[in-house]
Amino acid sequence: MSVTGAAIVAGVCGQPIRHSLSPVLHNAWIAALGLDAAYVPFAPAEAAFETFVLGLRGGAIRGLNVTIPFKEQALACADQISDLARLAGAANLLVFEADGTIRADNTDGPGLIEAIAVQAPGFDLGTAPAVILGAGGAARGAAAALALAGAPKVSIVNRTLSRAEAIAASIGGVVEAQPETELDGLLAKAGLVINATSLGLGGGAGPAARLELTPESAVVMDMVYKPLRTEFLRRAEAAGRRTVDGLEMLLRQAVPSFEAFFGVTPPASVDMRALALAQLGEAAK
Ligand code: ATR
Repeated sequence: MSVTGAAIVAGVCGQPIRHSLSPVLHNAWIAALGLDAAYVPFAPAEAAFETFVLGLRGGAIRGLNVTIPFKEQALACADQISDLARLAGAANLLVFEADGTIRADNTDGPGLIEAIAVQAPGFDLGTAPAVILGAGGAARGAAAALALAGAPKVSIVNRTLSRAEAIAASIGGVVEAQPETELDGLLAKAGLVINATSLGLGGGAGPAARLELTPESAVVMDMVYKPLRTEFLRRAEAAGRRTVDGLEMLLRQAVPSFEAFFGVTPPASVDMRALALAQLGEAAK
């Protein structure tokens, strides 16, 4: 890879950032395309995020991916906010225009939709009531993406009902909050079930949802990707359901980000899943 004085620079900002997959992916694509470009990690102190971002106004770098814990703050720094970022209440992409404008977008949503298209081909989001387990930032982003993608109903079920209600009130439309006592009935009619809680992270048990109650055609997704095959996804598989893993979503959100930074589509020649699995230390699926 050659980086000259004319290189286009982009990066990813989070705290901590050292385990981010994004630099590995974007720089593999840059190398495969032979671009004069670089993608670098940034880890500003938590209190310094806004100063950092506003200092980039004017195009010193082309853009930034934003990850935990800055996705909500990223919205507040932007002059223009996409509909999805606004509904999701979070941005994972900031683009710095030469005229000083900062644009915020959210590619996690398209990443989620694309991951379903890749791992559950033929699945029709437009006819499938969705059940989201959890009501943190990940759940809100998923609910926003599904609502904009045309899901007929998105039910958010969470241990703390008030958090689910807050998301439903904020997004509105097809998004509703339901108490955990309604979960079995929702599962029986669900087309799509998504774990957006942190349960299962690091190898523990996932949410206790009875996935065997879902219709046979239902698709089960886990936003947790460490481990890749979570206990939740293993239970879905055991019940005969198609599954979508969180790593695919993470990989797919990088594609529109790359296009926004460098103006070209990532090359298909790079096996991004293999790269990510090597980085995560998981055996290839
Ligand atoms: P993020 O923003 O990354 O989605 P978060 O805001 O910490 O993370 O949300 C974590 C989600 O996992 C929440 O929905 C949380 O439920 P509460 O809102 O009731 O706290 C859910 N969660 C975490 N541990 C849980 C547990 N032991 N049982 C049930 N839900 C749990």
